[in-house]
Amino acid sequence: MRIGILGSGQVGQALARGYGRHGHDVVVGTRQAAVGDLAVARPEDAVRGADLVVLAVRGDAAVELVGSLAGPLDGTVLVDATNPLDASAGAPRLFVGHTDSLGEQVQRAAPGARVVKAYNTVGNALMVDPQLPGGPPTMFIGGDDEAAKATVAGLLRDTGWDVVDLGGIEASRWLEPMCMAWVAHGVRTGTWGHAFRLLRPEV
Ligand SMILES: NC(=O)c1ccc[n+]([C@@H]2O[C@H](COP(=O)([O-])OP(=O)(O)OC[C@H]3O[C@@H](n4cnc5c(N)ncnc54)[C@H](OP(=O)(O)O)[C@@H]3O)[C@@H](O)[C@H]2O)c1
Repeated sequence: MRIGILGSGQVGQALARGYGRHGHDVVVGTRQAAVGDLAVARPEDAVRGADLVVLAVRGDAAVELVGSLAGPLDGTVLVDATNPLDASAGAPRLFVGHTDSLGEQVQRAAPGARVVKAYNTVGNALMVDPQLPGGPPTMFIGGDDEAAKATVAGLLRDTGWDVVDLGGIEASRWLEPMCMAWVAHGVRTGTWGHAFRLLRPEV
């Protein structure tokens, strides 16, 4: 697949390198002139012609960026990896929740994009080909477009994930707080190699 990644931070780079290892053609859409040896472009150029785009920017920049790319993103599968983190007052907190979510705000900013929430409940080091003693961890996803979710689920399974679909994009209301549980375990133990797995009878 031709994959555009918006954001060249930890997540953008981890996904770009991981997808590259799987043979995908990856372009990082960034304001930076260069990001190591990765192929980079302006965000609008990284989106154009992509089969799938991953949103991997700071939560507080997500809505404005996606809104500015709403035209080019029309009809595109947009994987939203962001979390609505606000660390301005010390310990991070979520700047939206309960009755709305960043995933829903991203979908509203680009109504024609086929938004799928994914990747927000795990650290970037495990995002592609996670290796854990308990077997493949679970990536929880949500989104309103079934075909887009099938595409994302296929990409996730190909890159080492068990996938659980929690429903529409409003599932972001439950997935975004899950990132705080992931962070809390890391802070308490000083380790960052953990991931969630949903144990269920049918698997
Ligand atoms: N770090 C993780 O392990 C992890 C795990 C799950 C989810 N997430 C979420 O994934 C997202 C990216 O996290 P990260 O750790 O990769 O962040 P990061 O390393 O701090 O990088 C921040 C990214 O945000 C972009 N950005 C910042 N301000 C921007 C603006 N005004 N307009 C457009 N882009 C802007 C930057 O884009 P440029 O390339 O243009 O500089 C940069 O790529 C966040 O929402 C985070 O909550 C992170």
